[in-house]
Amino acid sequence: MKKNFGAKAVITPLPVLIIATYNEDGTADAMNAAWGGQCAGKHIALNLSASHITTDNIKRTNAFTVSFADKKNLVASDYVGIVSAKDEKNKLEKAGLHTVKSEFVDAPVIEEYPLTIECKVISVREELGEVRVVGEVVNMTADEEILDENGNIDIGKLEALVYDSASHSYRVVGEKVGNAFKDGAALK
Ligand SMILES: Cc1cc2nc3c(=O)[nH]c(=O)nc-3n(C[C@H](O)[C@H](O)[C@H](O)COP(=O)(O)O)c2cc1C
Repeated sequence: MKKNFGAKAVITPLPVLIIATYNEDGTADAMNAAWGGQCAGKHIALNLSASHITTDNIKRTNAFTVSFADKKNLVASDYVGIVSAKDEKNKLEKAGLHTVKSEFVDAPVIEEYPLTIECKVISVREELGEVRVVGEVVNMTADEEILDENGNIDIGKLEALVYDSASHSYRVVGEKVGNAFKDGAALK
């Protein structure tokens, strides 16, 4: 028997994206975003509350970076998702995170995260009290420690977090169990 839960949204897993931007005074901010993802080959969509400092920063600088929260940085990643730069001026310092300026966009790259995507903003649309941002990817940087022997990114080594919205918990991206665009061919 199936049980009805009504209008409860539990699409799981969701990514744990760390969005980094520059504040008006030039200091860096970061927030945790689960409502985001790839929306075209080179485009990333974010759904942000209008009340976040990050949202103001994105509108002003037209840029942001996206890092993948990982197991190693779990506590800092959750912290930036529960404390606003509105209330804590030294938010990144408190999180133990350090930044350098992106070479490509007006946004910070957080050094502790092994994989970061740099984006320029191409669209900001306000809808239903939320702000929907689309960024175009202009570069991606990865630490050597997450590359395989051929120099490609190995997601297994990254230990990326996913957000389980059914239980409000973080899980780690796990074992490889199949090959996309290939395994289904067995039924052709
Ligand atoms: C797991 C998790 C996921 C979140 N996802 C989003 C999201 O997708 N969109 C959003 O607007 N806020 C999201 N938040 C809340 C922001 O990260 C949080 O309000 C943050 O403090 C905003 O920081 P700022 O005001 O310094 O920009 C999430 C928080 C957590 C812990």
